[in-house]
Amino acid sequence: MTTATISTGQKKRRFSETIKNYWLDITLFFAFIIDMNTRFTGIPVHEWLGIAFGVALIYHLLLHWNWIVAITKRLLRKLPSGQRLRYVIDLLLFVDMVVLVMTGIWISEVAMGQLGLHFASKFFWRRLHAQTADLAIWLVALHLAFDWKWILNCTKRYVWQPLVGNSRALAQNTVSGGEQ
Ligand code: HEM
Ligand code: HEM
Repeated sequence: MTTATISTGQKKRRFSETIKNYWLDITLFFAFIIDMNTRFTGIPVHEWLGIAFGVALIYHLLLHWNWIVAITKRLLRKLPSGQRLRYVIDLLLFVDMVVLVMTGIWISEVAMGQLGLHFASKFFWRRLHAQTADLAIWLVALHLAFDWKWILNCTKRYVWQPLVGNSRALAQNTVSGGEQ
């Protein structure tokens, strides 16, 4: 009885953690894609979205903190295949993202001014911002490639199935409504 209660509770928690991770990952992904298109957003939206992205990223890292600690501890010992490569890519991605967001803040034309901060924007930092943004595309793609099965399963479960379920229910309602 107690075991059943605990395992149901644990299952529910794991389920809600998966949903939380999934929607945060989707948000990060689209924020990144939108922010890569500065002509589409304009500079003010680009800067605030970039800052929001940086904050969401910290939350993403906190949600995966246990994984980071566990792999860091076992880095010099035996690890399941692929985990070391995944760790190296995540580390490169982390450094790249930190430089991307920090150089963004450094060259800010709107957001920092609105906060009353003024930095001397230099050509070097602009170049570095653009280059880290380009590198991020490849690193994010690799980062996601490791979890493509998880992404596919979650998309089926939380997006596709509810959509198909709703449209089936709608179709059934229409048919039964027409029969009355
Ligand atoms: C556009 C940005 C990003 C997106 C869309 C993204 C997406 C994802 C996805 C789909 C997963 C696997 C599912 C999950 O458990 O949540 C994941 C895991 C993870 N992410 Fe990210 N992520 C991004 C940026 C980053 C960055 C910059 C780091 C910094 C190191 C990072 C660190 C991790 C870690 C440590 C994990 C768990 C281990 C792993 O699967 O690699 N992520 N992320
Ligand atoms: C997800 C994070 C970010 C991404 C992916 C990103 C990406 C980019 C890209 C691709 C450009 C165009 C570079 C070029 O070809 O000249 C750009 C420009 C710019 N970004 Fe970001 N950025 C991010 C965050 C930020 C942040 C947080 C700020 C400031 C708070 C910022 C401020 C700027 C400014 C002012 C420019 C114009 C630079 C110029 O005119 O040369 N960015 N960004």
